[in-house]
Amino acid sequence: MKNIKITQRVSSIEYAIRDVIVHARQLAKTGKKICFLNIGDPVAFDFDTPPHIKVALAKAVEEGANSYAPSEGLPELRQAIGQKEKRVNKIDIAPENVIITSGISEGIQMVMAALIDVGDEILLPGPTYPPYISYAKFFGGKPITYETVEENYWQPNIDDLREKISGKTRGVVIINPNNPCGAVYEEKTVKQILDIAGEYGLPVLSDEIYDQIIYEKKFFSAANLAEDVPIVGLNGFSKAYLMTGWRLGYLYFHDKENRLQELKQCIEKEARIRLCVNTPVQKAGVAALNGPQDHIEDMVERLRQRRDYAWKRLNEIDGISCKRPEGAFYVFPRINAVGSLWKTDMEFALELLKETGVLFVHGSGFDPTYGAGHVRGVFLPPLEILEQALDEVELFMKKNK
Ligand SMILES: Cc1ncc(COP(=O)(O)O)c(C=O)c1O
Repeated sequence: MKNIKITQRVSSIEYAIRDVIVHARQLAKTGKKICFLNIGDPVAFDFDTPPHIKVALAKAVEEGANSYAPSEGLPELRQAIGQKEKRVNKIDIAPENVIITSGISEGIQMVMAALIDVGDEILLPGPTYPPYISYAKFFGGKPITYETVEENYWQPNIDDLREKISGKTRGVVIINPNNPCGAVYEEKTVKQILDIAGEYGLPVLSDEIYDQIIYEKKFFSAANLAEDVPIVGLNGFSKAYLMTGWRLGYLYFHDKENRLQELKQCIEKEARIRLCVNTPVQKAGVAALNGPQDHIEDMVERLRQRRDYAWKRLNEIDGISCKRPEGAFYVFPRINAVGSLWKTDMEFALELLKETGVLFVHGSGFDPTYGAGHVRGVFLPPLEILEQALDEVELFMKKNK
């Protein structure tokens, strides 16, 4: 029998962060212990969903919140999100300008579906969170990355961004705080990006999932600095509220001049064809935003210690250099001998995995140009596990001089 034909669209999809697990699983079959430093899931380590959020989920099910919800989301959750955005990011978002999604991931898919036609371009930070690349391609578009500069702590190169705008550009994505680099963008930089977007009449898609996981620097939400540039905000509950597996996120439209009306209506239609987001989880989302918030400070404090340790250790290893992450929970070190000792960052990551069991993600999986020569790791594990993993990396680098 002939193979069933698959679409071109799907064959282009990649997700480096999870694709590398295939190699780790094969190795695990040989008895090798794997230290998974590839996925940004705090709940997989020693951070747990706060008890009041768990109780709210159980209570929601018990009390009968088990039917479909409105496609745009529960009104009380949309309202709680407006209040959270006011409290945390000092922006005014009316509940009717919020759409609840099954994680930001679904939000990325919905926005790209509504913005990108075949041949259209979308500007992404390079390196970037991979689904932005994959969804742009999925809808026949062309992801174009603008440089973020390692020497400048991975801040965007504004001139490069401007040069890459063409007649086909449909929007500018910023990820702030950034995955994979850990940068928190300067206020001036966010304003410059907004100015350019305004000049060319482009919307800014601002992914702010790590807005509450910042260390020394102050974070500025794009919508907080935007005068008249239309902003689609993407945010969610996975990281700060430790609800990764529950799949809850949201989109909001910050649009003083009503230029996102049509886009919003299209996304609402998309929301209707997938019915709704999990109803009891939305109830728990209300409890997460309106209940105690002190777990966030506690988490950031524990992460700060782990960040300091991982960053220091990496820089002490010969052949590795790493900028200090300012937000989120990733390190994105440069491996100096990629291009000589190892042909590619993928080859480095696979050899490191094979010899030590430590699983990083190859940097080119976040962008073949600006991510190359690097790997991404998480500093989520407790210090003793980080210590063991980094001892292994150090030994590997000594052996492979
Ligand atoms: C920048 C960024 N956006 C979105 C997501 C996905 O978030 P969610 O769990 O809400 O789908 C992640 C997850 O790592 C991320 O790093």
